[in-house]
Amino acid sequence: MKKKNILVAEPEIGKDELNNVIKALKSGWISSRGEYIKKFEKNFAKYLGVKYAATTSSGTTGLHLALLALGIKKGDEVIIPDLTYIATANAVAYVGAKPVMVDVEPDYWCIDSQKIIKAITRKTKVIIPVHLYGNVAEMEKIMKIAKEYNLFVIEDVAEAHGAEYKGKKAGSLAHIGVFSFFGNKIITTGEGGMVVTNNKKIYERVNFLKNQGQSTKKRYWHPEIGFNYRMTNLQAAIGCAQLKKLNFFINKKRKIFQWYKKNLADLKNIKLNTQRKETKSVYWMVSLVLNKDSCKKNDRDNLIKILLKQGIETRTFFYLISEMPMYYKKNSNLNSVARKLSQNGLNLPSGSILKEKDIEVICEILKKNLL
Ligand SMILES: Cc1ncc(COP(=O)(O)O)c(C=O)c1O
Repeated sequence: MKKKNILVAEPEIGKDELNNVIKALKSGWISSRGEYIKKFEKNFAKYLGVKYAATTSSGTTGLHLALLALGIKKGDEVIIPDLTYIATANAVAYVGAKPVMVDVEPDYWCIDSQKIIKAITRKTKVIIPVHLYGNVAEMEKIMKIAKEYNLFVIEDVAEAHGAEYKGKKAGSLAHIGVFSFFGNKIITTGEGGMVVTNNKKIYERVNFLKNQGQSTKKRYWHPEIGFNYRMTNLQAAIGCAQLKKLNFFINKKRKIFQWYKKNLADLKNIKLNTQRKETKSVYWMVSLVLNKDSCKKNDRDNLIKILLKQGIETRTFFYLISEMPMYYKKNSNLNSVARKLSQNGLNLPSGSILKEKDIEVICEILKKNLL
């Protein structure tokens, strides 16, 4: 029998998810109405300690709705990190605004608050810090800058469910938080997302826009162009079961990080995720950055090939947003920290189903090829 590959982030779906989906199917409520939608929203808001949570069809549509709810439009600028998944930038483009890419921190890989100020212009309306790979951005400083310059802040929490900053959950630290429940995320609904906020007006606006801009008072009356960005009751049924296991998943991810750290301690030419002092990371992706200068034996891309030959899947860090054709910036080499990380970073298998033995096998291969 062929040995099973080790994947980067395999979802862990159990009996509770199955039972909930069967119950939802049997109820007949298979689209975007039904008991699980409200339950998932209520329980998610409670978990984060926020007043409102609105399910969406994905993290990307959640970001789009968040920007729309803040009234962001053509002519506005939105500051984002250069090192992030494409959805952060695309959501800005969907509303006609311009994404302005800022460099990230060398240790924590999130947007560099010191470099944000230089990127602010009269057109700037929003900052979107991304909690990359489960690390948490420097939210206190970012919120201070936002207050000083009268800007909104949307946290992109797609990769950091349950992470904390000074005891408060990521997603509850700014004006809006947006989560993704894609299959590789810490908890999943297959596809799906959530917009969270303490602001009732924003919450109502998000719900209005995601539901085809339908009046809440008059059915089939649409005073504005809206979207169908709703989550289904079937997805929410999975989400309710997954949410109950979120703390278990996070603890497992932290354990996986410790296993990697212990087994790779001899390697001096790499750097793993670093947790900022005032934060608790959730290690969505345990990641490794190679020091290109001191690691002569293999570069990052070689390492990926070597691991894949042994059935171990890894991922490169994201390409820079400023490198993409539609956002290309000639002077993107100004974001030199992000560029270096993007070229030398690697996401290791981090799914909660992994066992200590799996990590040991991966680390042996890494050591053999990096020492
Ligand atoms: C940082 C970041 N933002 C946004 C998204 C978009 O989420 P989704 O794939 O659910 O649209 C993702 C997920 O893939 C992500 O990693």
